[in-house]
Amino acid sequence: MRILVTGGAGLVGSWLARTAPATLGGAPVELHLTVRRAEVPPDVAGRVTVHQVELTDRAAVDTLVGRVRPDVVVHAAYTQSSRDDVVTATVTVARAAADVDAAVLFTSTDVVFAGDRPPYAEDDPPDPVTDYGRWKLESEQAVLRAVPDAAITRTSLVVALDPPDRGTAGMVETWRSGRPVRLFHDEVRQPIRVEDLVAELWAILALPRAERAGIWHLPGPEKLSRLVLGERMAAALGLGGVPILATSAAQHPSPRPADPELVADRRHGLGVHLRAVDGPVDGPVDGPGRLDGAGAGGADDRGAGSSE
Ligand SMILES: NC(=O)c1ccc[n+]([C@@H]2O[C@H](COP(=O)([O-])OP(=O)(O)OC[C@H]3O[C@@H](n4cnc5c(N)ncnc54)[C@H](OP(=O)(O)O)[C@@H]3O)[C@@H](O)[C@H]2O)c1
Repeated sequence: MRILVTGGAGLVGSWLARTAPATLGGAPVELHLTVRRAEVPPDVAGRVTVHQVELTDRAAVDTLVGRVRPDVVVHAAYTQSSRDDVVTATVTVARAAADVDAAVLFTSTDVVFAGDRPPYAEDDPPDPVTDYGRWKLESEQAVLRAVPDAAITRTSLVVALDPPDRGTAGMVETWRSGRPVRLFHDEVRQPIRVEDLVAELWAILALPRAERAGIWHLPGPEKLSRLVLGERMAAALGLGGVPILATSAAQHPSPRPADPELVADRRHGLGVHLRAVDGPVDGPVDGPGRLDGAGAGGADDRGAGSSE
């Protein structure tokens, strides 16, 4: 199975590559990643084909997808603050996938919900209150228009300890510079470890195309305030006792989802055990079934302090 993952230098994309199985549904996996400016981590680079492309460039995306002719496109590229990188890129990727009859798995977010009437089931109507949430909803709809049997996976904060995700790394930087970290005590999320999230994505990709279709909620195992998440990530990194100031999201100038709790009705058959965000970091995640034998390493992204 030929799989094209966009955002291959990002947190989710690089971990998908790192944990890719050798075969899926009996077929050998051939993995292609797209990057823009950032490079894929060195442990990933040797085992995938990397393509540099600007995903808002329709002609470039059409050429790439026409050349690779993927069976599945996993669209994980985005920039939270850029409508173009969210919506335009998604429309472009989804149309190109449709043109070659590729299946699509699109990574979306819990903040397509307002967070004022939790919990939210997979068939609840989204009602985003942030630009990012609106752009991701618009993107979900564009994907489904282009590829009606696409899989849309919504998750909460994606976190990692080794190496720390971007939000966690940002907190560490703040402490190193002698400043306290400020985190909301009244905004809760369901953070998920990136290793567990990508294990679920691979389990979804292993399903027949028709069974992948539609919305999947993939939250982490616990509801945590950003404050508690920050404290737990700090402790897990051996930084217990660093200064963290509790602040209120109610003081924030623009609306934020206070509790976009996702109910996950479809994931039960996927068989992935979700671990606490601050649990021990395992050894290398790859086993005999992986694309090759390299170990874990190099990724980034946001966590407790992010607006994701
Ligand atoms: N991280 C979270 O907490 C979280 C939570 C919920 C949902 N999600 C969803 O999960 C997905 C992956 O998130 P992530 O954290 O892995 O993202 P990430 O680490 O920020 O990586 C995203 C990658 O997308 C690339 N990209 C952005 N715009 C592009 C464009 N126009 N053309 C080409 N490449 C582009 C970026 O490349 P450059 O670096 O070169 O710009 C970056 O490497 C996203 O769909 C996001 O909405 C993430």
